[in-house]
Amino acid sequence: MNKFSLKVNEGLTLHFWVKTKAITSNAFLSVFSPSKKQPLCFKIQNVPCYYEFYSYQHPVNEEIEVEIDLESFDISLAYFFHPKTVEEEGVTYLDFSNGAVNFFSHGQTKQNYQQDTLRPKLHFTPYKGWMNDPNGLCFLDGKYHMFYQYHPNSLDWGPMHWGHAVSENLLDWRHLPVFLQPEQNLESLGATGGAFSGTAFKDPNSGEISFFFTERKAAYDLNHSYREVQKRTFWDNSHTTATKVSTVIDSQPVFVHHDFRDPKVWFDPIDNLYKMILGSAVDKTPAILLYHSKDKDNWEYHSVLYQAPEYFEKNSGRCVECPDFIQFGNIWVIIYGVVGYHEKQTGRHNLLYAVPGKLSHNTFIPISEPQCLDFGTDFYAMQSFNDGSRQLAFAWLHNWAVKGHIHPHYNGEMSAPRELTLSEDYQLLMRPAPEVNQKLANALCYKNGELTLEGNNQYVFSLEFKKIDGAFSINLLGDTTKINISFDKQSIKMIEKELNGGDLSYELCSSGRDAKFSSQTPSLNDMRIIFDHGIVEVFCNGGRICGTRRYINTLSCHTLYTEGSLNDGEIRFIK
Ligand code: FRU
Repeated sequence: MNKFSLKVNEGLTLHFWVKTKAITSNAFLSVFSPSKKQPLCFKIQNVPCYYEFYSYQHPVNEEIEVEIDLESFDISLAYFFHPKTVEEEGVTYLDFSNGAVNFFSHGQTKQNYQQDTLRPKLHFTPYKGWMNDPNGLCFLDGKYHMFYQYHPNSLDWGPMHWGHAVSENLLDWRHLPVFLQPEQNLESLGATGGAFSGTAFKDPNSGEISFFFTERKAAYDLNHSYREVQKRTFWDNSHTTATKVSTVIDSQPVFVHHDFRDPKVWFDPIDNLYKMILGSAVDKTPAILLYHSKDKDNWEYHSVLYQAPEYFEKNSGRCVECPDFIQFGNIWVIIYGVVGYHEKQTGRHNLLYAVPGKLSHNTFIPISEPQCLDFGTDFYAMQSFNDGSRQLAFAWLHNWAVKGHIHPHYNGEMSAPRELTLSEDYQLLMRPAPEVNQKLANALCYKNGELTLEGNNQYVFSLEFKKIDGAFSINLLGDTTKINISFDKQSIKMIEKELNGGDLSYELCSSGRDAKFSSQTPSLNDMRIIFDHGIVEVFCNGGRICGTRRYINTLSCHTLYTEGSLNDGEIRFIK
């Protein structure tokens, strides 16, 4: 039995996800007020053999004693917080490694992150467990809120929760309590599903913020027996607890079979109606459905807003996921991912697209073919939001076909924050948000050739060329592998190789040995590479060409070696 004392304020809240290792009569956790006649004030007696969530809130200010049985139980995640201050202070994690109880406040967690040689420094990572899509992104009172698809109980996808973090600068995040849980304990059913992706909506008429998301009801078979409904929720005054969760769309149109998810909502002042889009498939073709509502609670199906070209369906594309719809002046841009899609020419899976168009009386008229947003693969489920002055976005740095991880405690990372704009010829441009530079020291001049990197500089840097005249090759040399980014006046290409010459790129792509990560372009004028513990984000031609890969072999780079037509290089290291 492990015991610890805590001086607590009224309202201190404990959250645990725990399961029993074997049938036992022991209590998992007991809380005592030693000063009272009846000191026992809370006990978790019968814990099941699947993960179950428990919460305890202490009613008064005092010193309490807590007993935890670490031998008979497995705890996947545990933290405490004070609801009134958690947004500012973050949660304090309880760590049970080595049979002892350690506390990691936000400050200590931040320090641990900094010292962890496997954790990226410019990219958000969950404290523990599995993470995929960014959800509910919004900006309120000087704070950015990021929610995310989260499974606290393992390093693999499972029953979905919404994790939550807050930041003032898009880069330094404080972890907040888990915001949404599956409506049923799916672990107990051996099923998947839960609180799937969704978005935040700030009503321009009232300023009220609410969140729309999909609940996938218990699913036992990925293709047949699941049902997806749309829900709405609010947050309480502390911005950390979901309140008033309600189902706002409980069935899909008859012509939709199962995929019906990831709502995005906006207000249309012309129709004076709220609008929602959902990712789906119509006649087996990935599609986006349009709904409308007078009050955000009662929604009516309107039409199919967009149906993806036939080649998606022909190449295993199952449905649209995480549709986004962004207005740039009189142009609207649909962003969508197609799950299942296999691009024959490159061997890549599940890619993300942008389609600019005009919106006329609820009809979307595309003005270009879908533009593939990334020539890597590890940039999926992007979600954008407006912070009052610009359109920002994050994406999941993986993809359903490629989920390898290296950290023993977490799996899943977010892209660096990006700013989105639209060029005059209707191309979506993505550039790293300027905040990224705040974490980096002043730029040093980089001379084309060879540079040895030491210490932290091997793990995080930004390399930028504001002027490129022709072909080039850039090598990021690790211990046994290297990343090569090259341009031959026809295409830019990114590849990971074994240092003895072998080509490793296929290893990260379950599609086989033929995956190619390149973008056709006759000219490259500028380029920025962000490297962070094996994450590579490449931005070229003012953000018109982007490539993102999460390499799991080349985690550091002791030598940078470049050749070709590269001028005016600038290199920045982490501060
Ligand atoms: C996209 C996605 C969404 C879904 C969520 C489930 O990556 O498949 O469509 O809501 O992830 O975790």
